[in-house]
Amino acid sequence: MSNKEIFQIPPSFAAQAGVDGAHLRRMTADAAHDPERFWLDQAGRVDWTRRPTLASGSSFADDVSIRWFADGKLNASVNCLDRHLAERGEQIALIWQGQEASQVERLTYRALHERVCRMANVLRGLGVERGDRVAIHLPMVIEGVVAMLACARIGALHVVLFGGFSAEGLADRLNDSGAVAIITADEARRGPKRIALKTVMDEALARGVPSVRHMLVLSVTGIDLPMQEGRDLALAPLLAQASPDCPPAEMEAEDPLFLLYTSGSTGKPKGMVHSTGGYMVWASFTHEMVFDHREGDVFWCTADISWITGHTYVVYGPLANGGTILLFEGLPSYPAPGRWWEVIDTHKVTTFYTAPTAIRSLMRDDDSVVKGYALDSLRLLGSVGEPISPDAWIWFHEAVGRGRCPVVDTWWQTETGGILIAPIPGAVPQKPGSATLPLPGVAATLLTDKGEVIEGEGEGCLCIARSWPGQARTIWGGHERFRQTYFSFSPGYYFSGDGARRDADGYYWITGRIDDVINVSGHRIGTAEVEDVVATDHRFVECAAVGVPHDIKGQGLIVFAVARDASVPDLADAASLAVTKGIGRYAVPERVYLVPDLPKTRSGKIVRRLLRKIACHELDGLGDLSTLADATIVDRLIAVVGPAK
Ligand code: WTA
Repeated sequence: MSNKEIFQIPPSFAAQAGVDGAHLRRMTADAAHDPERFWLDQAGRVDWTRRPTLASGSSFADDVSIRWFADGKLNASVNCLDRHLAERGEQIALIWQGQEASQVERLTYRALHERVCRMANVLRGLGVERGDRVAIHLPMVIEGVVAMLACARIGALHVVLFGGFSAEGLADRLNDSGAVAIITADEARRGPKRIALKTVMDEALARGVPSVRHMLVLSVTGIDLPMQEGRDLALAPLLAQASPDCPPAEMEAEDPLFLLYTSGSTGKPKGMVHSTGGYMVWASFTHEMVFDHREGDVFWCTADISWITGHTYVVYGPLANGGTILLFEGLPSYPAPGRWWEVIDTHKVTTFYTAPTAIRSLMRDDDSVVKGYALDSLRLLGSVGEPISPDAWIWFHEAVGRGRCPVVDTWWQTETGGILIAPIPGAVPQKPGSATLPLPGVAATLLTDKGEVIEGEGEGCLCIARSWPGQARTIWGGHERFRQTYFSFSPGYYFSGDGARRDADGYYWITGRIDDVINVSGHRIGTAEVEDVVATDHRFVECAAVGVPHDIKGQGLIVFAVARDASVPDLADAASLAVTKGIGRYAVPERVYLVPDLPKTRSGKIVRRLLRKIACHELDGLGDLSTLADATIVDRLIAVVGPAK
């Protein structure tokens, strides 16, 4: 695809857009000339009980200290709820569409406020205090959003945990965060399947999680489950008894709002710490700018709330801006293909934000499916989570957006809190496959491997030269790891771990991770995490995990394992099981190859690049093999994996 393929802003969209080209140029110039003034002005988009007088006090040097609006005070739940009550108390804040078409619930801002206050009082009643961590382990039900805002209301940090994590994965995160309470459900519905949530949580706690005092259990499917006396409590009766009035805690801007775990290239998942003030400003700013938010929008972000996308664009951004969010419990194609399109038509969704992996799988349906729906409420489409190929972009634009809706390809990360690079839809023409331009105030930079700045066109490592308000402050319990991971690549820069190319128009094209993180259907998985869990099975001497391209998932996981005794049966299955037990089913390897040895350099480093090529059957250009300690390994690996394609 040439860089020149440009989709101009549809005139019907441009005519009504909140920010046009001139406006964006002015903002970008203001943010560059006087960032202090610019961000203090932007801080005015949230309600403070004490308005900040300082913007950034951040430094990427030395120990790394990130602080924004530090003398301000506020409460995030007040910003998402209370402040809308006077003007839009009767407006719908949340539409919940359950898996079955008949399951619909609409909550006004007033009703959502009441539900949040009750939940907050239940937590306070159990002794949860400001600064405590509360784990939320729920399907896409209203209580998930309610629980997050309830924590925010009392100043507790929520730690939302994915329903797909294994017991071991849950236990690790609960212990790392020191959670005092858990909010879970009996089961989640996933198409015709039921996913046990509480039972897995019971197994996690049985592994030893001393900090947890209470487990609140929401009834979703209504099955009977054993409850542990003194620890487990049914949630519904507590909510019914709780007071609907709950005074919010006044928080410092820099008090953490939540922890969210994500994977990196080394070690266990890390709990990224997000602040209250800067994060709320960033969530509101980016949601309004990138999604051209306006009165009457129905905003549907399909992300699960356990991912950062769910935090910022299901919950905090749209609710801070007084929007109407749609929460959908079901799957894209259950009970039949076209379900998502039906949901869009039923609820008159205006703004639809999803992931390339979903788009690729929906493209596989016959086009008559999507054509069978009107989709005329849509005005803007968005994509996040992985690079979107030009083909998928154009299909999304044509088949779903009917050529009428701009597509915003948004680049960001758990660590960034919100979007950093994306087209402002009324101001920036789009190129399929490019996340386009950094938002005002975002100092995106490309660096060479050696840390030299690349000017103009070029390709390198995507870094950010200055802090922005939504940036994660630290890793929970590991500030030195934070510094090492993100700020040691080139001093003074935040290192994203992604590669990118910048074209002659200054547009960014994200090429994917350049570290040992792979992206499977938008889930980040550290290859080191996979290798660690396989190593817990002592029948393996060692192993290496790599990512290879996958049609639907974006990347698939391939494991190369060296067995102590290759004659033992079913070892490949054992390696797969170790991964699903240690991490979760979402990380299941596409293939496990039992190999005699791994390719290593003379200094003993595994040459993953070679493994990736062999796994892809790309045997041309295997590169310089002279650095290998034993070059005969190449043929022995090919003998296991198979020849070139
Ligand atoms: C990838 C999700 C290309 C990238 C918000 C990043 C993308 C990782 C895009 C973060 C995009 C996200 N184009 N790649 N528009 N958006 N990524 O932390 O590799 O779950 O580093 O945050 O997803 O994943 P995370």
